[in-house]
Amino acid sequence: MSAAPPVIAIDGPTASGKGTIAERVAGSLGFHYLDSGALYRLLAWRALADGVRTDDGPALAAVASALEPRFRAGRVELDGVDVTDAIRREEIGRAASQVAVHPAVRQALLDLQRARRRPPGLVADGRDMGTVVFPDACLKVYLTASVAARAERRHKQLIEKGFPANIDLLSQELRARDQRDSERTASPLKPAEDAYQLDSSGLAIDEVVAQVLDWYARRDEG
Ligand code: DC
Repeated sequence: MSAAPPVIAIDGPTASGKGTIAERVAGSLGFHYLDSGALYRLLAWRALADGVRTDDGPALAAVASALEPRFRAGRVELDGVDVTDAIRREEIGRAASQVAVHPAVRQALLDLQRARRRPPGLVADGRDMGTVVFPDACLKVYLTASVAARAERRHKQLIEKGFPANIDLLSQELRARDQRDSERTASPLKPAEDAYQLDSSGLAIDEVVAQVLDWYARRDEG
């Protein structure tokens, strides 16, 4: 196992800034980057397009096993269609959280996630990177932020992509998503026991990135 490329796991609730931080940390170390939430979003998008219900675990698991996304230069394609922006819509995020409760779906997406662990290393963000997918990650970070800070960030993200957004509705949506993601029995959202916890509400992106890089540099000091 010691020969396996290193993994930095960054978990946390939706809109906590995980994606931005993970991408920058990966860029800074020259590591690969896995946005595991994108896989659940891709599945949700495909299921909605094919008329598969979000409560039909076995059918969703079959769709998940056949997913062949192509990640290239910050874009993602599914069956030749660029769905990078489409999967960022709020209704896809909500459906992603619904399809993610099924154990068979999570199992079906495991290989796709673990296959991304390649030299020289991987930064993976999601809900269960440190607890289930990469329990042997050499650094685990659990990133949080207040609902207000997260709603503001998500609002900015959606407006920038040209999608309609309302802060109050987004706050309600974030709370509902937190509740579903942390109360499910299969790989619920929770910090790994050995995770460093960081509240990014009052911090700039650069400060959070610097903190994660510092923890990585000192990972063996224990
Ligand atoms: O991080 P995100 O908002 O893009 O994730 C969308 C949904 O996917 C999230 O609400 C729950 C699910 N998800 C998951 O269950 N496990 C992961 N590792 C990543 C995402």
